Amino acid sequence: MTENIKSTPKKWYASWFDTPYYHILYKDRDYNEAQHFMDNLTGYLNLPENAKILDLACGKGRHSIYLNSLGYTVTGADLSENSIIEASKSSNDTLQFKVHDMREVCTEKYDAIFNLFTSFGYFDDDADNLKTLKAIHSSLNETGFACIDFMNVDYVIENLVPEEIKTVEDIDFHIKRYVKDNHIFKEISFTADGEDYHFTEKVQAIRLADFEKMMEEAGIYLLDIFGNYKLQKFFKNQSERLIMIFK
Ligand SMILES: C[S@@+](CC[C@H](N)C(=O)[O-])C[C@H]1O[C@@H](n2cnc3c(N)ncnc32)[C@H](O)[C@@H]1O
Repeated sequence: MTENIKSTPKKWYASWFDTPYYHILYKDRDYNEAQHFMDNLTGYLNLPENAKILDLACGKGRHSIYLNSLGYTVTGADLSENSIIEASKSSNDTLQFKVHDMREVCTEKYDAIFNLFTSFGYFDDDADNLKTLKAIHSSLNETGFACIDFMNVDYVIENLVPEEIKTVEDIDFHIKRYVKDNHIFKEISFTADGEDYHFTEKVQAIRLADFEKMMEEAGIYLLDIFGNYKLQKFFKNQSERLIMIFK
């Protein structure tokens, strides 16, 4: 008997982040800035020396690898299998990587859980954002803290570059950015390896007030808010980041 099974197309975040082209486009990410941020954040949280940290949506593990070099026991988790394969090349006894969906509760508890560099707000259904927050909350141990490092929507919208072409490794990435239906869209078109590609990044325009509402619903206590990687004060119209510390 043949079954008529229709396969559902992958969501944008499950496909785009898993391609090599995503990593090519963003290969110039600022590693120094990421490391300073981790120095500041771990210092602020005053984590014990042997703390267990979960880097949730770790990508190829740039933060995980650095945190581990500071002496922490780190797990990097991401939905992208290819990113986890790449990150796993740096694994050791105290640095592990796994494929994991951020909506799911972890089997272990952590002293700190970090969700970094706008790795939130991808889901079509608000319930999935709430599910993610609840999963983070339940994966923390009693004294644990979590951090979400999100874009500051108002700053991003104010400074949106509507169109640009970025050439990286001989690929011309044609990028268009716009705001629609409370989401920030980035359309990325390019030709590579003889094929034409088109991907769309679509991130929900979640502001502090929206996070506060969701956190309240998830039973989460928001402790502190910062506006950049130096952990300076958050200003709605000037800050580049919205960095939230909660438990
Ligand atoms: C903007 S990247 C940031 C990666 C990394 N934190 C960094 O700073 O380099 C977002 C990451 O979220 C991951 N991601 C998307 N949806 C996810 C999900 N449902 N669960 C876990 N990871 C997810 C992507 O695969 C991607 O690696």
